Amino acid sequence: MRLLIMGPPGAGKGTQAEVLVKKLEIPHISTGDMFRAAIKEGTEMGKKAKEYMDAGQLVPDEVVVGMVKERLSKEDCAHGFLLDGFPRTIAQAEALEKTLQELDMQIDAVINIAVPREKLMERLTGRRICRACGASYHVVFNPPARPGICDKCGGELYQRDDDNEATVANRLDVYEAQTQPLIDFYQVRGLLRQIDGDQPIDKVLSDILTAIGK
Ligand code: AP5
Ligand code: ZN
Repeated sequence: MRLLIMGPPGAGKGTQAEVLVKKLEIPHISTGDMFRAAIKEGTEMGKKAKEYMDAGQLVPDEVVVGMVKERLSKEDCAHGFLLDGFPRTIAQAEALEKTLQELDMQIDAVINIAVPREKLMERLTGRRICRACGASYHVVFNPPARPGICDKCGGELYQRDDDNEATVANRLDVYEAQTQPLIDFYQVRGLLRQIDGDQPIDKVLSDILTAIGK
């Protein structure tokens, strides 16, 4: 299956994607994770992206589009993928349509996880992530069995640099201005699957699976 997962920062895209890709046996392509990997490696692109990310702004379209295009051309995407955090602007969505046309591929469904804005701040400031395997936790809503330690791999949990209150507020504003219009973009194409993300994690997952016929 070829899927997109959309929603505001903190909606639960990464949390759901982690389970979905295992179940559907498709690669998880998260542009946020790709940038964080580039930052860790210290590449030029990583350095540039970090400035935008720390400010809660979007990395310029041409940088993101080039990176995704290269990734989708790889062999492991031939039979499906889950794109998480891309596209985030109308220009990115149009570039994606063009790239998929060139690759002779089509999107099967766009999962949009909706959560009221007032819940997102708490989700993001309480998030903790495993340094080793990338699994996502929450200090209240999804705590690990031992504080600060990943249940899955024993790795150390950390807080993302952009999960502080000021940056989160910017990210939410940027989402509303630049990314929210994509809901209509995919609605008119008949691809949109609306999911209520303000429910327990397992219920959100089962709603997604039903919505994509799995
Ligand atoms: P990115 O990494 O994509 O971040 P984001 O979109 O802000 O989304 P998050 O990862 O913060 O949230 P999520 O929806 O995955 O939530 P999660 O599952 O972790 O992007 C970061 C930055 O990179 C951007 O700001 C931008 O600068 C740049 N960037 C990336 N892509 C780009 C693009 N295409 N163009 C330009 N720039 C780009 O859940 C959040 C928390 O809530 C967790 O603690 C989790 O445990 C908890 N939780 C999850 N589900 C539930 C639930 N149902 N109930 C209660 N708690 C829950
Ligand atoms: Zn881990």
